[in-house]
Amino acid sequence: MKVLTVAGTRPQLVKVAPVSRELRKQMKEILVNTGQHYDYNMAGVFFEELHIPKPDYDLGIGSASHGKQTGEMLKKIEEVLVEEKPDAVLVYGDTNSTLAGALAASKLHIPLIHVEAGLRSYNKKMPEEINRVLTDHVSNVLFAPTERAVENLRKEGIGENVFHVGDVMYDAFLYNSSLAEKKYSLEMFGLESKKYLLATIHRAENTDSWERLHAIFQSFSTLNDTVFLPLHPRTRRKLEENGLIEIVHKADNIKIVEPVSYLEMLLLEKHAKAIVTDSGGVQKEAYFAKVPCFTLRAETEWVETVEVGCNRLVNPLEEDLAKVIQQFEPTDFSAPLYGDGKASEKIANIIADFLSNSSRL
Ligand code: UD1
Ligand code: UDP
Repeated sequence: MKVLTVAGTRPQLVKVAPVSRELRKQMKEILVNTGQHYDYNMAGVFFEELHIPKPDYDLGIGSASHGKQTGEMLKKIEEVLVEEKPDAVLVYGDTNSTLAGALAASKLHIPLIHVEAGLRSYNKKMPEEINRVLTDHVSNVLFAPTERAVENLRKEGIGENVFHVGDVMYDAFLYNSSLAEKKYSLEMFGLESKKYLLATIHRAENTDSWERLHAIFQSFSTLNDTVFLPLHPRTRRKLEENGLIEIVHKADNIKIVEPVSYLEMLLLEKHAKAIVTDSGGVQKEAYFAKVPCFTLRAETEWVETVEVGCNRLVNPLEEDLAKVIQQFEPTDFSAPLYGDGKASEKIANIIADFLSNSSRL
């Protein structure tokens, strides 16, 4: 049994770590790193800290426009698939690396497995929405993290081989939480527990709109709390190009740093007073860490965090972030929205079962 995994961005590496650990107990895994993320603090540190096996193939794709980046990945992944002839291809989430892996596999009639299937924002302007819808529709086995994801798939006529297993990011969180506390301390960052807001911003809808990016950083500068912000390279570039970095330089309360490692991030999340983000993964991690979350987007795929009252969508153009944060009282973090921490084990077992009965694929 041979599965070939395609990944290449920061959030995918976090997801690959627990699944790969389980998969390799039962089968051979070939790891293909597209290199969509390539800075040490966006990729290399995740391989090291999460003990992700060395990739069998480093495609070194890097940054480019959507078409060029996805097209070059598609071409190179196809070459690897022809060479390796895996029994199945495994892709994660909703990035361009996901779509390229999905297209390459499906055109060669290699069974495709999608982890984090069924997520929807119903906003087709998001590149991620295109990637996830297309990937789900060419997948043969779909691992849904939530009930809602299963329902979304059902509405689109996808019901066969859909497994509700929970979220592999919860597995990663549980596995690494205490390691994070042991390895790092808040003092390293000059922070005190529950006395700062942790923020991350990188979504195209925020970084590519001057008005939204301006409104977000302007609102950060008016907060009384320290805003600790590990800055995605995309956002840094946009702030610098637009002259908005001045807002950060002038505001005493905004502390921007380079992207931090996963274990550092877990520590920062667990001790934050609240989290302000547009990240998918960070919204969930706020819930795992039982920290109130403010999501600077018009919609979220992780609707259940909002429905249970632990996550609040905020429009930075129309709402006063300081007021929203002050007035928000999160309710209850106890619902097991993302499974039992064994999603990766379930995924590996189901894949092993499928591959040993390949007529099911
Ligand atoms: C990608 C995903 C997004 C995911 C995010 C996680 C797509 C369409 N988007 O967005 O869904 O939430 O990753 O972080 O796949 N850059 C660097 N160094 C790096 C990586 C990127 O400097 O190591 C800069 C480059 O200027 C690049 C820009 O960031 O042009 C955007 O990178 P890209 O991978 O295209 O998209 P992300 O915004 O990271
Ligand atoms: N993350 C990290 N360091 C950072 C910012 C994020 O380790 O400086 C982790 C975060 O804890 C989560 C994942 O990266 O596990 C989320 O990735 P990102 O926000 O880039 O992408 P998204 O989840 O929005 O696709």
